[in-house]
Amino acid sequence: MDFFKNFIASIIFTAAVLLFINVAGNILVGQTNTDSKEVNEVVEAKVQTEEIAEAKPEVKAQPEAPTPTPAAEQTIVASSSGNIEMGANTFRRKCMGCHPISEDGQNRTGPSLFGVVGRTKASIDGYRYSEGIKNLGGVWSEKELNTFIAGPRAMVPNTKMTFSGVKKEDQRDDIIAYLKTLSK
Ligand code: HEC
Repeated sequence: MDFFKNFIASIIFTAAVLLFINVAGNILVGQTNTDSKEVNEVVEAKVQTEEIAEAKPEVKAQPEAPTPTPAAEQTIVASSSGNIEMGANTFRRKCMGCHPISEDGQNRTGPSLFGVVGRTKASIDGYRYSEGIKNLGGVWSEKELNTFIAGPRAMVPNTKMTFSGVKKEDQRDDIIAYLKTLSK
């Protein structure tokens, strides 16, 4: 009989303890609710800034990363190591001001460069080339374009192209890879 009494008593005791924990817990949680919310927000904000901080170097690192070339691009780049996208960028910055790339050969300060790789030198109708360029003869090979872009005046002393040149070889390769895409 004693055992039974003890058993009941312990059940009641346990229930009381549980009730106490529950009530006390609710009070505590109620009090800290706002706190934990703030903590949550701070944590979230921190996570966000960390994400942004992580994202930035990735964007920066992209140009240096050896870009895996999709198959379609590989056929165009075939004989050159240049990066078309980078070339398009550099072209926009350094060449576009003087050279349009329209197919109909509209000219600006310089002639349109549409299809210039493999094109007969000084061959755009209606563009008044310097004697220097006219006297070169033949078509623009990638190698000659490379030399010309590196230092126009070094290759053609009296050229009208008043441009100091692209000194970085990889930039020249990129530009030429891009110029090759400008064809029919
Ligand atoms: C300041 C203006 C200017 C800039 C910038 C310039 N060019 Fe030119 N370019 C000219 C002119 C002018 C000519 C014509 C040269 C001549 O007749 O002597 C020319 C000629 C050329 C030719 C020969 C075209 C043909 O029909 O035979 C090529 C190729 C060329 N430029 C490429 C480039 C590239 C690539 C860039 C950028 C890296 C560039 N140029 C930047 C003005 C410019």
